[in-house]
Amino acid sequence: MHLSIQGRPPEAQAGAVLHAVLDAGVTLVDTADVYCLDQNDIGHNERLIAGALRSWGGARDSVVVATKGGLVRPSGRWDTDARPEQLRAACERSLRALGVERIDLYQLHAPDPRVPLEESAGALADLQAQGKIRWVGLSNVSVAEIERARRVVPIVTVQNRLNPFFREALGEGVVAHCAEQGIGFLAYSPTGGGRLNLKLPDHPILAPMAKRLAVSPHALVLAWVMSKSPTVIPIPSARQVEHALDSVHAAELELSEEDLEAIDRAEFSRG
Ligand SMILES: NC(=O)c1ccc[n+]([C@@H]2O[C@H](COP(=O)([O-])OP(=O)(O)OC[C@H]3O[C@@H](n4cnc5c(N)ncnc54)[C@H](OP(=O)(O)O)[C@@H]3O)[C@@H](O)[C@H]2O)c1
Repeated sequence: MHLSIQGRPPEAQAGAVLHAVLDAGVTLVDTADVYCLDQNDIGHNERLIAGALRSWGGARDSVVVATKGGLVRPSGRWDTDARPEQLRAACERSLRALGVERIDLYQLHAPDPRVPLEESAGALADLQAQGKIRWVGLSNVSVAEIERARRVVPIVTVQNRLNPFFREALGEGVVAHCAEQGIGFLAYSPTGGGRLNLKLPDHPILAPMAKRLAVSPHALVLAWVMSKSPTVIPIPSARQVEHALDSVHAAELELSEEDLEAIDRAEFSRG
């Protein structure tokens, strides 16, 4: 996301980040049509990823690219539009931007309060039946919404926010529900997001723990997110190669019960 929205790096740097994580073994890349500056720039991140995959020397088929439809960016704002006709048009644009005949994982970016969820999910079921998308996912949804959508189309992933500053996905039972139902949970903004992640290095519990274990505070937080269930997959973002690779290596980090509980108990102020 941060490779394509406001504050994005030069394209060569973005390409270097993508190649570095692919070389390091990352097999899931999350994007969206709206990761761009505004409505005239729709598909920027999808085109960037498609280009990086083309110029990468590795096995393209080993990488799952997950994109989303259901938001729009008029004048750079983030608005919801998950009407079936908009989802159909967005999916066609994403197919072109990604340069594929079938999208691996297509996610409803968020339920649209003006459109019954069943209608949005129905459009995704149709796209799947037409072979334009392989798997269907949801994002920014409650347990009740997951179950409503599942009556219309099989759901393989749910993408909601989860980090130590924002734990609603745990408190409201979405992580547990996904684990019970065998649905992958993609944890977005897993280190806190663009602003809050900057507070991690000064955190009174994380800073000494990071020093003791010789890892970054971001890696600790990613390990904590992953510890919540084997079905939780964090999807951190990065504009810098060293940050991206640090996050990749965090996948190997397992924290002790004591350290996990210390992060559980710690306060993470959003102020
Ligand atoms: N479905 C949704 O509604 C939704 C909403 C938001 C995000 N997302 C998804 O979630 C992804 C991540 O979310 P996010 O960007 O909000 O949050 P994030 O990954 O928690 O934080 C983003 C920033 O944290 C820094 N960072 C990450 N890992 C780091 C590390 N190991 N060491 C040092 N710095 C590190 C990066 O800084 P630098 O840029 O300086 O490298 C990055 O820009 C997005 O790319 C997108 O795919 C989905």
